[in-house]
Amino acid sequence: MGMQIAPSLLSADFANLEAAAASIPGADWLHFDVMDNHFVPNLTFGVPVMEALAKVAQQPIDAHLMIEDPDRWAPAYAEAGAKSVTFHIEAAADPVKLAREIRNQGARAAIGLKPATPIDPYEDLLTELDMVLIMTVEPGFGGQKFMDACLPKIRRTRELLSKHGGEIWLQVDGGVSAETIERCAEAGADVFVAGSAVFGADHPDAMVSDLRSRAERHTCLR
Ligand code: DX5
Ligand code: ZN
Repeated sequence: MGMQIAPSLLSADFANLEAAAASIPGADWLHFDVMDNHFVPNLTFGVPVMEALAKVAQQPIDAHLMIEDPDRWAPAYAEAGAKSVTFHIEAAADPVKLAREIRNQGARAAIGLKPATPIDPYEDLLTELDMVLIMTVEPGFGGQKFMDACLPKIRRTRELLSKHGGEIWLQVDGGVSAETIERCAEAGADVFVAGSAVFGADHPDAMVSDLRSRAERHTCLR
């Protein structure tokens, strides 16, 4: 798998998500940020909206669940059509069981880490996962500034993934733009979420291509 771009619909027009998806045909994924006003201080959308979008969008949906009690709620997103489901490790009670349930529903399973959460304690969990999401802003809002302080954790996560082998993807989310994506690619990320950078651009689909070629030029994965 090469470098993949997952535009975040958090920065799209919520009154017309179908048109937002159609405006970025070159995107590898549609990143769908679910917020519950408890795990983060913001509220977005849930299963019914995602299910409706999955029926009309060409691209697969990458659900990022910034919610409490993912053990209870996350499998429903896979069942409703998400091809990738990320739950936050800070909120999960039994991550192994949850990752297995997500995979049993036919979706890729991933854990998300807030900026202050280290990866090392979760090394043993990696075999249960298809992706690790490293947040490079505090979760809750789009349009925040990329935190360079997270780059060492991206490098460390890539080290652990290489050590274990297999095909586990490393996603970065928060403040990713033409200015910051190259640093993320150099550090070992291979899936890039970008919300405001894509939907704030004059030509969103051209921005998707631009971001992907920058990542391809700077990736350390060859
Ligand atoms: C933040 C979300 C991100 C956000 C990214 O909590 O998880 O996916 O939408 O937006 P930008 O790219 O604008 O930082
Ligand atoms: Zn996200």
